[in-house]
Amino acid sequence: MMQDPVCGMKLDKKEKIKHVYNKKTYYFCSKDCKDEFKKNPKKFLKETPVIELRDIYKDYHLGETRLRVLKDLSMNIWEGDFVVLIGVSGSGKSTVMNLIGCLDTPTKGKVYIDGKEVSKMSEDRLANIRNEKIGFVFQQFNLLGALNCRENVSLPLFFKKGSKAFKPDGKVKKYLKSVGLLERAEHKPLEMSGGEQQRAAIARALVDEPEVILADEPTGNLDSKTGKMIMRILEDLNEKGKTIIVVTHDPSISKAATRIMNLKDGRLIGNHKNIIKIIWSNKNNNSKK
Ligand SMILES: Nc1ncnc2c1ncn2[C@@H]1O[C@H](COP(=O)(O)OP(=O)(O)OP(=O)(O)O)[C@@H](O)[C@H]1O
Ligand SMILES: [Mg+2]
Repeated sequence: MMQDPVCGMKLDKKEKIKHVYNKKTYYFCSKDCKDEFKKNPKKFLKETPVIELRDIYKDYHLGETRLRVLKDLSMNIWEGDFVVLIGVSGSGKSTVMNLIGCLDTPTKGKVYIDGKEVSKMSEDRLANIRNEKIGFVFQQFNLLGALNCRENVSLPLFFKKGSKAFKPDGKVKKYLKSVGLLERAEHKPLEMSGGEQQRAAIARALVDEPEVILADEPTGNLDSKTGKMIMRILEDLNEKGKTIIVVTHDPSISKAATRIMNLKDGRLIGNHKNIIKIIWSNKNNNSKK
């Protein structure tokens, strides 16, 4: 089976988007991927993706029944990418994010981080990757209720440095400020609005300055102004070279995205930069009917 060298998607023989480079024919899921390849073929042929999902199956078992959520899914994420993952509710977006973040393991298939297979890594190495390489903004904010905002944001440092991390450290202050929460630093989650909690969750994901930031519907329950603020933070980080993978239905994100991947029936069905706009306009048209 052929594979798109850019997004890593598996392609069947019907694919017509090709490009010949050095006398070899490469196939692509979309014009976007082909254009990206043409800009820098060496990158996609010689370098290693930061994250690679290969031939992934993920099943959940509920009693006797098997629910197959991901079917033969493959995907590449390159350093500096801003990947947007979309798909209807239940299509497996959070499942994919958990696999990328090494929080869960596939039923079948392989996950590689910097070219190294995750299932072959020691527990210590994996813990390091989770702590240092990847920052996770969950669909639920997952702040600890007993800790205040500053302490919640300090947590990743705490795992590394122990209670020293709870001192008003430079990094914690910097990231509280970047999400506009300096004034709320001493508040507990229950005393904060949903938007503030989500911003705290983002500051927590950033505080250890991970190379890869995963955000699962970070603006899902927020008003559009706070949502835009959070998107701006992610865009800024991407401009500074961080790799971002975000699940969102927010059409305003499509401008910043280098790649938009659509998850359907357990598989990725393509990279189309304007897909969010198309879905969005369909939604609006339907609701007007
Ligand atoms: N731990 C679990 N046990 C059993 N089934 C699960 C589990 N986690 C998820 N599922 C099921 O797997 C499917 C995919 O779930 P997932 O959370 O990845 O979807 P999603 O695309 O993130 O949806 P949403 O947009 O609603 O967040 C769903 O049908 C869900 O019910
Ligand atoms: Mg989800």
